[in-house]
Amino acid sequence: MCGIIGYVGKKAASPVLLEGLRRLEYRGYDSSGVAVLGNSTVEVRKKKGKIDEGLAHEIQSRPVNGDVGIGHTRWATHGPPCDENSHPHLDQSEKIAVVHNGVIENFDVLKQRLLKAGHQFHSTTDTEVLAHLIGEHYAKRRSGKSESNTLTLAVCDALREVIGTYGLAVICTEQPDVIVGARRGSPLIIGIGDGENFLASDANAIVAHTQRVVYLNDYDVATVTRARFDVMNLGTDTAKVQISQLEFQAEDSQRGDFEHFMLKEIFEQPRTVENALRGRVDHEGATARFGGLNMSSAELRSIERIVIAASGTSWHAALVGEYLIEEFAHLPVEVEFAHEFCYRNAPLQRDTVLLVLSQSGETADTLAALREAKRRGHRALAIVNVVGSTIARESDGGIYMHAGPEIGVASTKAFVSTLTVLSLLAVHLGRMRMLSAGRAQEILKALEAAPKQIEALLKQNEEIKRIAVKYAQAEDFFFLSRGYNFPIALEGALKLKEISYIHAEGYSAAEMKHGPIALIDSKTPTVFLVPQDSMYDKTMANLAMIRARKGPIIAIATEGDEQIRKVAEDVIYLPKTIEPLNPILASVPLQLFAYHIATARGCDVDKPRNLAKSVTVE
Ligand code: M6R
Repeated sequence: MCGIIGYVGKKAASPVLLEGLRRLEYRGYDSSGVAVLGNSTVEVRKKKGKIDEGLAHEIQSRPVNGDVGIGHTRWATHGPPCDENSHPHLDQSEKIAVVHNGVIENFDVLKQRLLKAGHQFHSTTDTEVLAHLIGEHYAKRRSGKSESNTLTLAVCDALREVIGTYGLAVICTEQPDVIVGARRGSPLIIGIGDGENFLASDANAIVAHTQRVVYLNDYDVATVTRARFDVMNLGTDTAKVQISQLEFQAEDSQRGDFEHFMLKEIFEQPRTVENALRGRVDHEGATARFGGLNMSSAELRSIERIVIAASGTSWHAALVGEYLIEEFAHLPVEVEFAHEFCYRNAPLQRDTVLLVLSQSGETADTLAALREAKRRGHRALAIVNVVGSTIARESDGGIYMHAGPEIGVASTKAFVSTLTVLSLLAVHLGRMRMLSAGRAQEILKALEAAPKQIEALLKQNEEIKRIAVKYAQAEDFFFLSRGYNFPIALEGALKLKEISYIHAEGYSAAEMKHGPIALIDSKTPTVFLVPQDSMYDKTMANLAMIRARKGPIIAIATEGDEQIRKVAEDVIYLPKTIEPLNPILASVPLQLFAYHIATARGCDVDKPRNLAKSVTVE
């Protein structure tokens, strides 16, 4: 949700900014822009639309020169996507430029005050108000004794007046060697180079230049020059600054020969599942082991209840987690939408642990849930993909997915990695309670077989494409299943919705008959997940109800099931596994199905309309 980059060094800033923005574009693509410090001026170029359709042409026709600059790619919150609302925004004096990710909640009050003082605004954004506010404070500070840190102090003054969230970068013509960055609620990192430094919303933007980063904390304000960076904190006397080493290379976030990131990430899954399992399977103890849970065995044993909070696709993973933990560990689990958990004041018994799931580790709703549980004195664990993300740093302990950068806006490999990690966690908790060594070994072996089975599934890509193209013009879809695969039906429908814009409903196959079955007709295909598990006969009976109403059926079934061919128009076969691990395998054909329908309809699958990869506002 909005990407920010800042560069101060010896190179021409604009190519560095443009390249960084391309790598951040998955965070938002409503518009993009750069501001570069030239000879006592700040040059701004900004344009509505995706970078290569707007900003890149703009810079080509009107180049900007200078070695200090900031850039932004936008996911609109205040004000519709248009050139005027694009960032960077200037202050009243046009000396200061600001890029911002977040929401300034009291922007209207501040705007009224600034309007009365004679300020003129050119956009409807909250960010322009922030730029003017910084400019107002800068002018006040400058009319006193002008110091090298005047811009930093002006930013601090302005932020003390602000209610809301921000990750921001600021430059000023009168301080031509400085970028000031600040964060509260929206991520921001410093990239440390050699004679050059960077600011960025996430490491993808700068990993081609440096592996050394500092993750800023809330209320940190950073002053970054070519030679150094200083961090202060608005809330405490001293800022905690720790230099971290990135664990991935620029190539990891390249598309390679794949047409889309989403397809690349789907095909990476044999490797990402292996990575999620690596070093965590303990055959000798018939259990799983984790380095970062930060809980003793006694503490883990004393957990009475787990609440899992997450959003979107991660919420679907949470539903599978509920089934897994309740079956393997007999521990009661409740799944909450992160945003509901925060505000509905749900009672939490004493020995309840909150577990949050998040690919990005930056989702504002999920972060708020984590903070709420901690505020109430509960331990909060996290399963996260992005190393060093806010959720990873603020949780009491957790498990990394090790899926590598996920760039496609539709989450695929991170989902399957979350399921893998949840399966391991359920075994770990189960072995401390009632799970037998024999059953645990069976689960662990089935998990270890999953990468090869996913490879086999991926070989069906062409057949899945054929089926997808056949149904690509349908306007409504149902995704149905029961038991462990019910959440996968929800996820399959979400995947299709977000990248193809087709209306799709994920539903319990059993619940259908209580109302939604009224929507079934010969034009409404149903993707039926019907593996040969303990629910098979009942799911088949539900399938017959759809069939009787002439609904076309695409079945996801277990290999060797010949009966299904008689009742489904099309069948995609899954390799055999144990029932609780069916979701790991069943996710893959649904991802490919959604992908091929979306491409057949000419949709931009990596940048679907209205979406952003990481939603850092509530
Ligand atoms: O990074 P997170 O896992 O916290 O993100 C949560 C959701 O925003 C995310 O899963 C979203 O639903 C994706 N677009 C799904 O493909």
